[in-house]
Amino acid sequence: MTTSTNSSSPRKPLIAGNWKMNMDHVQGTDLLQHLAEALSEAKHDPERVEVAVFPPFTTLSTVQALIQDDGLNLSSGGQDVSPFDSGAYTGDTSAQFLAKLGCKYVLVGHSERRTIHNETDDILNAKVKAAYRHSIVPVLCVGEGLEIRQTGAHVGHTLTQLRAGVEGLTKEHASRLVIAYEPVWAIGTGEVAGPQDAQDMCTAIRAELGELFDADVAATARLLYGGSVKANNASAILNEPDVDGVLVGGASLEAAEFAKIAGCEQPRTPVPAS
Ligand code: 13P
Repeated sequence: MTTSTNSSSPRKPLIAGNWKMNMDHVQGTDLLQHLAEALSEAKHDPERVEVAVFPPFTTLSTVQALIQDDGLNLSSGGQDVSPFDSGAYTGDTSAQFLAKLGCKYVLVGHSERRTIHNETDDILNAKVKAAYRHSIVPVLCVGEGLEIRQTGAHVGHTLTQLRAGVEGLTKEHASRLVIAYEPVWAIGTGEVAGPQDAQDMCTAIRAELGELFDADVAATARLLYGGSVKANNASAILNEPDVDGVLVGGASLEAAEFAKIAGCEQPRTPVPAS
């Protein structure tokens, strides 16, 4: 199976900003307006590269209203979702509420949720399915901690998370998946996985999707890298053929920096059919 992308690839690059628990709705409005300006100055072409933001829940509706009212070419998503649709689940947010807001995506299984909130693979699989019930595309986050990386078991560990997260999905749903490979040791640490590391893991994830579903799913699911991505390291990562975008934390809180990262995605050169 050919795993690399090519010019006829249906995979539009995705540059995603996870604001985490930063930016109240007033700050978020300001950041979004600055981001829209910076993208416009950088002549961002939304037909070629998709940019998405993931604000905290209380900021999400303000951000989404601004996107709609100002006709901004940005996508948005929540940072988490309930596995349930509605009912007595205090503190949770339903995928149907996100859909009603106009969100396209939701993060599922970010390592901070796995670690701090003890989210298990079973819960995350239920969240992935809840998202699809309401036509929201899950961005399933996977990746190993430092100890696992040091033992060399990182590929096996990450693929185990992947298999559990996508268990029971239809091919149609799987083909729309976004998987974010975020090695935990690279998140917020300044340690960035090398472009080859990102490529190797994305190749392994794509091959696994091919095994679990089929070659079409492997060819269409989008794979992101996340972990200390900045404007000065994004180009090399985004140049890798199996990396379809980045999930950015800290650097997405600065409009100019994030717009620069979005500008790092270059048109891909055709790969001759083999
Ligand atoms: P940083 O870019 O701050 O390392 O965060 C990565 C991340 O966790 C994105 O979800």
